[in-house]
Amino acid sequence: MSRASLDKDPHEVAAMFDGVASGYDRANSFMTFGFDRRWRTTTARVLDARRGEKVLDLAAGTGVSTVEYARGGAWCLAADFSFGMLHAGLHRNVPMVAADALNLPFADESFDAVTISLALRNFVDPKAALTEIARVVKPGGRLVICEVSTPPFAPIRFVHRRFVLKLLTWVGSRTSSNPEAYKYLAESMLTWPDQRTLGEIIASAGWTDVEWLNLTFGVVAIHRARKPA
Ligand SMILES: C[S@@+](CC[C@H](N)C(=O)[O-])C[C@H]1O[C@@H](n2cnc3c(N)ncnc32)[C@H](O)[C@@H]1O
Repeated sequence: MSRASLDKDPHEVAAMFDGVASGYDRANSFMTFGFDRRWRTTTARVLDARRGEKVLDLAAGTGVSTVEYARGGAWCLAADFSFGMLHAGLHRNVPMVAADALNLPFADESFDAVTISLALRNFVDPKAALTEIARVVKPGGRLVICEVSTPPFAPIRFVHRRFVLKLLTWVGSRTSSNPEAYKYLAESMLTWPDQRTLGEIIASAGWTDVEWLNLTFGVVAIHRARKPA
């Protein structure tokens, strides 16, 4: 098993991430030209997790963002369904749990906020996951999603689609133990909805006050929303 297909079969996706887990953080930074660091700190700022809050970092991978969110003193839990990714992040000082985003092992209204970074597009049914997340968030609680997106300015969009994604695949093929997995990552970016469409999907899953912020010319966007009180 080397890569998932765009059907995003959960077993294939988990196996693919198990396969790239050991070098994931390094390859990710390399392929995003170090921008991932800035995207994570901005996501943490938008999330604004405070002491006394419970925050779920869903599809957290190695917990690389979870530590960032916990800096303000909130209790932040990293959850992912790839044991390989969780294992690769064991050195990080954050609680971790194996969990599937579509069937979360938490009681209703357990968290003040849920966040997902660079992972929602890998879910087999993003809208069903967003509905399931709403179940475990307290009324009035927050959702923050950092995900690849579509640059709104046409020339940048053209260059991004034509060259940057090809470059990513090429870099992945040179640096990763599993080049096919990086081909999947590039393909999954190309088929992912733009900012407005994702905003509509979030709202249709029961969230309110949906807004987004473009980062790096809209190559990535942060969406935030609230569960109705
Ligand atoms: C590209 S990685 C992102 C990891 C981390 N959030 C980050 O910012 O580096 C995508 C992660 O989503 C996880 N994932 C995909 N579908 C999932 C699901 N249904 N439930 C839980 N985790 C999932 C994968 O196992 C993988 O660790």
